[in-house]
Amino acid sequence: MPDAAKSLKDGGTIVPVREILWGSAAGAHKYETAQELPEDMRKLIVKLMVVQADTEFASIQQHRPWLDQAPTLEDRWIESRIVADEARHGLQACRILRDFGEEGQKYIDELLAKREGEHKLDAFNMKFDRWSDVGAFTCLVDRVGVYQLRAFQECSYGPLARAMPLMLSEEQLHLNFGASVLRRMSQDGERYYGSRDEAQAAVRKWYPRALDMFGHSNSDTSRRAIEYGLKRWTNEEARGRFIEEVRGLLAPYGLELPPAEFDRHVM
Ligand SMILES: [Fe+2]
Ligand SMILES: [Fe+2]
Repeated sequence: MPDAAKSLKDGGTIVPVREILWGSAAGAHKYETAQELPEDMRKLIVKLMVVQADTEFASIQQHRPWLDQAPTLEDRWIESRIVADEARHGLQACRILRDFGEEGQKYIDELLAKREGEHKLDAFNMKFDRWSDVGAFTCLVDRVGVYQLRAFQECSYGPLARAMPLMLSEEQLHLNFGASVLRRMSQDGERYYGSRDEAQAAVRKWYPRALDMFGHSNSDTSRRAIEYGLKRWTNEEARGRFIEEVRGLLAPYGLELPPAEFDRHVM
């Protein structure tokens, strides 16, 4: 159970509660409407929601060809769930943008018109040429997304914080699925689909793009986001935590990470 989704005993029945974890960085003030947000924070939320929605819609385009090409029936079913989840996450981010009136609606219209190759982050402009790409993308790139969602969960803007527990629990499926694809390729390659070499090549392809997603090391936006409780760590701290997490996850499958500087575009 995600740490935010605690349960309460209520008249003998277990009632799930979506608890908002207000972060210490968020300060005492809680905002419930877009209108009451300080100007700088409002701009930052709009910027972060546009990127968030863009990644959700882009990943639908990337997954789409695998809905009927994934190797097993179960894999196809999970692909269809992932596509449905990402569509819902895109909708969720756009609902938050809608609360910002005309400005938000303008961004939504732009987001809906974006085609493959036109997205903000490099990781979302690359095709899934092989099944190993699906595994490495969901294991690595979706995992970076979860770092950002966890910070939103604790932020001081109520509508954003409340959207997070469900998104996080859905993302957990994507991460676990990605790791399982890489594991099956590495350990059961012959019986499954692909090989350890293919899984390793996909890790080398997607890992640098995942590290880039944390952003520049000396980012002013990231410093402001921490002040407003919209990020938990600096880009560099988050990247370091991610590297440690992924190294520990992939080592048992015999998969190695390239050096952190390898093939990077954003440092
Ligand atoms: Fe998502
Ligand atoms: Fe996802």
